[in-house]
Amino acid sequence: MTTTPVDPGPPVDPVPQEAAQERFDATIARGDRIEPRDWMPDGYRRTLVRQIAQHAHSEIIGMQPEGNWIGRAPSLRRKAILLAKVQDEAGHGLYLYSACETLGVSRAELTELLLAGRQKYSSIFNYPTLSYADVGTIGWLVDGAAICNQVPLCRTSYGPYGRAMIRICKEESFHQRQGYELLMTMMRGTDAQRAMVQESVDRFWWPSLMMFGPPDAESPNSARSMAWGVKRNSNDELRQKFVDMTVPQAEALGVTLPDPDLRWNDERGHYDFGEPDWAEFAQVVGGSGPCNAQRLAHRRAAHEDGAWVREAATAFAERSGKGGQ
Ligand SMILES: [Fe+2]
Ligand SMILES: [Fe+2]
Repeated sequence: MTTTPVDPGPPVDPVPQEAAQERFDATIARGDRIEPRDWMPDGYRRTLVRQIAQHAHSEIIGMQPEGNWIGRAPSLRRKAILLAKVQDEAGHGLYLYSACETLGVSRAELTELLLAGRQKYSSIFNYPTLSYADVGTIGWLVDGAAICNQVPLCRTSYGPYGRAMIRICKEESFHQRQGYELLMTMMRGTDAQRAMVQESVDRFWWPSLMMFGPPDAESPNSARSMAWGVKRNSNDELRQKFVDMTVPQAEALGVTLPDPDLRWNDERGHYDFGEPDWAEFAQVVGGSGPCNAQRLAHRRAAHEDGAWVREAATAFAERSGKGGQ
């Protein structure tokens, strides 16, 4: 890729490290934003690069499972909706790569790290899409889980990330709605369509719960991310919020969520639910999920196929006297 890394440059007002740290801590404590030219601890910068890159990669890799159905959409209307949704995901990836570049790492470097397997993307996209109902289920459950994760990130402490999330969240709610609407339409259709929806929900329910990451007790970086205001809620809090939000929607749809332990707990004021299969999660995150190899191979091929476009864009920019794009 030909993008030039954005050099965050020296702090505008260089101050001794201790004073800089105090200023940083005070900004976080006030709930204000840290901006690209502000001093920040190395760990904060590294955490953000890892998280924003992983998020950007997820948006781009996440285009594959749904893109799989664009050519087989059952009507022009469904095709237009799905195309718009998948294009939104490409846009989300671009906002997020741009936010990451303000931390001094280029999109080209991030892409290399992804292709080398040194940065991750969300494990959910390593599951296959086997029927058109999966387009609805992904919108409803996967984009629904993404919304639970991402709404609090609009208030994250790093300015460019938070601002990117505001726009992304608006589009995610369209994604969730279109999925729900597709499933509702199918549930009002034939027995075969209803069975197709149920089979899809059975496959995607548990992987959707895994999207919030491991339980809090096994998520060692979470506490530090929360102290820095990068994360605003723990994995388990967000998972609970997602379950509480989704169960009434499942009832309205008329689908059964595949969890025998799922029931309302009056005392807690929340739904109780079973434990996801964390061994499966570890396996998929570790690279052995059903589609890991296919997703990365497809991404690598797309990157290689696009090399001539990047070269042409660079040559054009140089000829126009802009010295790279
Ligand atoms: Fe997205
Ligand atoms: Fe989305």
